[in-house]
Amino acid sequence: MTWLVPLLLVLHVVPAVFWAGSTAVLARPGTIALPLPLRAPQTGSAAGAIIFGMILWGMLHRGDAGTPEYVLGAGALCALTAFALQQLVAWPALRRDPEGGAARFASAQRISSILLIVALSAMVTFRYA
Ligand code: HEM
Repeated sequence: MTWLVPLLLVLHVVPAVFWAGSTAVLARPGTIALPLPLRAPQTGSAAGAIIFGMILWGMLHRGDAGTPEYVLGAGALCALTAFALQQLVAWPALRRDPEGGAARFASAQRISSILLIVALSAMVTFRYA
Protein backbone atom coordinates (compact mmCIF):
# COMPACT_ATOMS: atom_id res chain seq x y z
CA MET A 1 0.00 0.00 0.00
CA THR A 2 2.60 2.53 -1.11
CA TRP A 3 -0.21 4.96 -2.03
CA LEU A 4 -1.73 5.17 1.46
CA VAL A 5 0.81 7.49 3.16
CA PRO A 6 1.01 9.91 0.20
CA LEU A 7 -2.81 9.99 0.06
CA LEU A 8 -3.04 10.69 3.80
CA LEU A 9 -0.37 13.39 3.45
CA VAL A 10 -2.40 15.11 0.72
CA LEU A 11 -5.59 14.85 2.83
CA HIS A 12 -3.63 16.39 5.72
CA VAL A 13 -1.58 19.09 4.00
CA VAL A 14 -4.16 20.52 1.54
CA PRO A 15 -6.74 21.46 4.21
CA ALA A 16 -3.91 22.54 6.57
CA VAL A 17 -2.69 25.04 3.96
CA PHE A 18 -6.23 26.41 3.51
CA TRP A 19 -6.63 26.61 7.29
CA ALA A 20 -3.37 28.58 7.74
CA GLY A 21 -4.07 30.80 4.71
CA SER A 22 -7.63 31.69 5.68
CA THR A 23 -6.44 32.42 9.21
CA ALA A 24 -3.78 34.83 7.91
CA VAL A 25 -6.40 36.68 5.84
CA LEU A 26 -8.89 36.88 8.72
CA ALA A 27 -6.13 38.21 11.01
CA ARG A 28 -6.18 41.49 9.07
CA PRO A 29 -9.36 43.37 10.00
CA GLY A 30 -11.24 44.83 7.05
CA THR A 31 -9.73 42.48 4.45
CA ILE A 32 -13.03 40.60 4.24
CA ALA A 33 -16.29 42.51 4.67
CA LEU A 34 -18.30 39.48 5.81
CA PRO A 35 -16.07 36.97 7.67
CA LEU A 36 -18.91 34.73 8.98
CA PRO A 37 -19.33 32.68 5.74
CA LEU A 38 -15.68 31.59 6.22
CA ARG A 39 -16.49 29.97 9.54
CA ALA A 40 -17.51 26.56 8.15
CA PRO A 41 -14.65 26.30 5.60
CA GLN A 42 -12.07 27.28 8.24
CA THR A 43 -13.50 24.91 10.84
CA GLY A 44 -13.89 22.06 8.33
CA SER A 45 -10.38 22.39 6.91
CA ALA A 46 -8.93 22.58 10.45
CA ALA A 47 -10.84 19.44 11.48
CA GLY A 48 -9.63 17.58 8.35
CA ALA A 49 -6.02 18.63 8.90
CA ILE A 50 -6.14 17.56 12.56
CA ILE A 51 -7.86 14.20 11.91
CA PHE A 52 -5.52 13.15 9.08
CA GLY A 53 -2.50 14.51 11.01
CA MET A 54 -3.41 12.28 13.92
CA ILE A 55 -3.86 9.27 11.63
CA LEU A 56 -0.39 9.94 10.13
CA TRP A 57 1.06 10.26 13.61
CA GLY A 58 -0.46 6.93 14.64
CA MET A 59 0.86 5.20 11.51
CA LEU A 60 4.35 6.73 11.32
CA HIS A 61 5.38 8.05 14.74
CA ARG A 62 3.85 5.81 17.40
CA GLY A 63 6.25 4.36 19.96
CA ASP A 64 9.60 5.74 21.11
CA ALA A 65 9.77 9.51 20.73
CA GLY A 66 12.99 11.11 19.49
CA THR A 67 13.83 14.74 18.68
CA PRO A 68 11.79 14.67 15.40
CA GLU A 69 8.67 13.60 17.33
CA TYR A 70 9.20 16.39 19.87
CA VAL A 71 9.40 18.95 17.05
CA LEU A 72 6.34 17.44 15.32
CA GLY A 73 4.49 17.28 18.66
CA ALA A 74 5.26 20.94 19.43
CA GLY A 75 3.88 21.89 16.00
CA ALA A 76 0.74 19.81 16.56
CA LEU A 77 0.25 21.44 19.97
CA CYS A 78 0.48 24.92 18.39
CA ALA A 79 -2.11 23.87 15.78
CA LEU A 80 -4.48 22.51 18.45
CA THR A 81 -4.11 25.75 20.45
CA ALA A 82 -4.91 27.77 17.31
CA PHE A 83 -8.02 25.62 16.74
CA ALA A 84 -9.19 26.13 20.34
CA LEU A 85 -8.65 29.92 20.10
CA GLN A 86 -10.65 30.13 16.88
CA GLN A 87 -13.53 27.99 18.13
CA LEU A 88 -13.71 29.30 21.71
CA VAL A 89 -12.75 32.98 21.29
CA ALA A 90 -12.74 34.23 17.69
CA TRP A 91 -15.97 32.92 16.14
CA PRO A 92 -18.10 33.23 19.33
CA ALA A 93 -17.01 36.92 19.67
CA LEU A 94 -18.11 37.66 16.11
CA ARG A 95 -21.39 35.76 16.39
CA ARG A 96 -22.37 37.46 19.68
CA ASP A 97 -21.64 40.96 18.35
CA PRO A 98 -20.67 41.25 14.64
CA GLU A 99 -19.43 44.84 15.04
CA GLY A 100 -18.19 45.09 18.63
CA GLY A 101 -16.58 41.65 18.48
CA ALA A 102 -14.47 42.41 15.40
CA ALA A 103 -11.36 43.50 17.35
CA ARG A 104 -11.44 40.42 19.61
CA PHE A 105 -12.05 38.23 16.53
CA ALA A 106 -9.04 39.71 14.70
CA SER A 107 -6.74 39.40 17.75
CA ALA A 108 -7.63 35.73 18.23
CA GLN A 109 -7.15 35.04 14.50
CA ARG A 110 -3.80 36.89 14.60
CA ILE A 111 -2.48 34.78 17.48
CA SER A 112 -3.82 31.65 15.71
CA SER A 113 -2.05 32.71 12.53
CA ILE A 114 1.30 32.97 14.35
CA LEU A 115 0.70 29.57 15.98
CA LEU A 116 -0.08 28.02 12.57
CA ILE A 117 3.10 29.50 11.06
CA VAL A 118 5.06 27.85 13.91
CA ALA A 119 3.12 24.58 13.31
CA LEU A 120 3.88 24.64 9.58
CA SER A 121 7.56 25.38 10.26
CA ALA A 122 7.74 22.41 12.65
CA MET A 123 5.97 20.11 10.16
CA VAL A 124 8.37 20.85 7.30
CA THR A 125 11.57 20.66 9.38
CA PHE A 126 10.97 17.87 11.93
CA ARG A 127 12.70 15.16 9.87
CA TYR A 128 15.98 17.10 9.94
CA ALA A 129 15.90 17.63 13.75
C1 HEM B 1 -3.00 18.54 15.37
C2 HEM B 1 -2.45 19.02 14.28
C3 HEM B 1 -1.45 18.28 13.43
C4 HEM B 1 -0.94 16.99 13.55
C5 HEM B 1 -1.26 15.93 14.60
C6 HEM B 1 -0.01 16.81 12.45
C7 HEM B 1 0.73 15.66 12.21
C8 HEM B 1 1.53 15.43 11.11
C9 HEM B 1 2.22 14.19 10.82
C10 HEM B 1 2.20 12.96 11.71
C11 HEM B 1 2.86 14.36 9.63
C12 HEM B 1 3.60 13.28 8.80
C13 HEM B 1 4.99 13.12 9.21
C14 HEM B 1 5.69 12.13 8.32
O1 HEM B 1 5.61 12.21 7.07
O2 HEM B 1 6.35 11.28 8.91
C15 HEM B 1 2.62 15.72 9.17
C16 HEM B 1 3.13 16.27 8.00
C17 HEM B 1 2.91 17.53 7.57
N1 HEM B 1 2.10 18.47 8.20
FE1 HEM B 1 1.08 18.22 9.93
N2 HEM B 1 0.02 17.96 11.70
C18 HEM B 1 -0.84 18.89 12.26
C19 HEM B 1 -1.08 20.17 11.81
C20 HEM B 1 -0.50 20.74 10.69
C21 HEM B 1 -0.70 22.11 10.25
C22 HEM B 1 -1.58 23.12 10.97
C23 HEM B 1 0.02 22.28 9.10
C24 HEM B 1 0.15 23.50 8.22
C25 HEM B 1 -0.24 24.70 8.55
C26 HEM B 1 0.67 21.03 8.82
C27 HEM B 1 1.48 20.81 7.73
C28 HEM B 1 2.14 19.63 7.45
C29 HEM B 1 3.01 19.45 6.29
C30 HEM B 1 3.33 20.48 5.21
C31 HEM B 1 3.50 18.13 6.39
C32 HEM B 1 4.42 17.43 5.39
C33 HEM B 1 5.83 17.54 5.91
C34 HEM B 1 6.82 16.78 5.04
O3 HEM B 1 6.50 15.68 4.59
O4 HEM B 1 7.93 17.29 4.85
N3 HEM B 1 0.34 20.12 9.79
N4 HEM B 1 1.79 16.35 10.09
